[in-house]
Amino acid sequence: MFTEQKRRICMPPVLFCFLLGSLWETSAAQIRYSIPEEMEKGSFVGNIASDLGLEVRVLSQLGARIVSRGKKQHFALNVRNGSLVIGERIDREELCAQSTQCLLNFNVLIEDKLKIYSVEVEIIDINDNPPHFLLEELELKISETTAPGTQHLLENAYDPDVGLNSLQGYELSPNRHFSLQVHSRAKGVKYPELVLERALDREDESIHHLMLTAWDGGEPIRSGTARILVTVLDGNDNAPVFTQPIYTVNVPENVLQGTTLLTVNATDADEGINSQVRYFLVKIPGKTSQIFQLNSVTGELLTLQNLDYEEAEFHEMEVEAQDGLGLRSRAKIHVTVVDMND
Ligand SMILES: *[C@@H]1O[C@H](CO)[C@@H](O)[C@H](O)[C@H]1NC(C)=O
Ligand SMILES: *[C@@H]1O[C@H](CO)[C@@H](O)[C@H](O)[C@H]1NC(C)=O
Repeated sequence: MFTEQKRRICMPPVLFCFLLGSLWETSAAQIRYSIPEEMEKGSFVGNIASDLGLEVRVLSQLGARIVSRGKKQHFALNVRNGSLVIGERIDREELCAQSTQCLLNFNVLIEDKLKIYSVEVEIIDINDNPPHFLLEELELKISETTAPGTQHLLENAYDPDVGLNSLQGYELSPNRHFSLQVHSRAKGVKYPELVLERALDREDESIHHLMLTAWDGGEPIRSGTARILVTVLDGNDNAPVFTQPIYTVNVPENVLQGTTLLTVNATDADEGINSQVRYFLVKIPGKTSQIFQLNSVTGELLTLQNLDYEEAEFHEMEVEAQDGLGLRSRAKIHVTVVDMND
């Protein structure tokens, strides 16, 4: 500390520096000021003359000046009235980052008397920064089959201020599916997690827009926001649904073999493979199975044989639709054969 102070005032010529070093011990006196950051250039900090118990005249006549180590001249001394004023705007965050205490030290040198006084200025944080998120929009993909209670880590907000002026908490916009949990890591860093409260349904709502707000405890409170976009991924939670419960057709008995009699159709609200439907006739004993054929891709029902009214005037079949991952449903097909007086 001692050598540090000496080095700080060491300026050419070398001899001068030497002298100062030896005089230091006898002239030590310290004054301390406390000011908020971001004060305008020229703002009054304190009256050096009266605080050191010197007459203003002494300062101007004996050549008082500020000696500091840094390149920036944060302070200036008005020797005519003994005031210490702001020389350059002071940003506490730039100077001291996240340290809770921010001190600036310099010396006031009175050249003719070879006297040196040390001055310490404490820079008090003001709430000049709102919390902010590095990403303004966060995208999450959550499957609709995800169980309620599942947590998804969100992005932190940052606030370079300290104490109450720094980040205090988070809030989530009102919505039907999610809540927010805030956890604290070591060093008091708070990070938010999205908790699924109610199961999602892609077919009901495939995208959810949420707003995450981070706030500090300054006066007034400042806040920052990030948008959250939740894309709901499809789970195979829908079975195919036939467009009709019963498909009926009347066919003349002399219809040609290979004729398409009707087309069944089932739709599936899911996506991709979960929505690809295939059709099958449910196997039944008897001749009917040999007379008709169902195209499993298109759902078209064809005749494989001639229809004979005298043999059977009515055919009932069951058709099954099955999606890519095996959810199924059924409908009926009624074929009535019309007598052609053969
Ligand atoms: C000293 O003079 C400066 C202008 O040079 C002024 O801003 C300051 O208020 C004065 N201080 C006192 C204590 O009168
Ligand atoms: C099946 O029905 C749906 C809904 O009515 C329709 O959009 C689709 O085109 C139909 N498909 C066929 C092959 O007819």
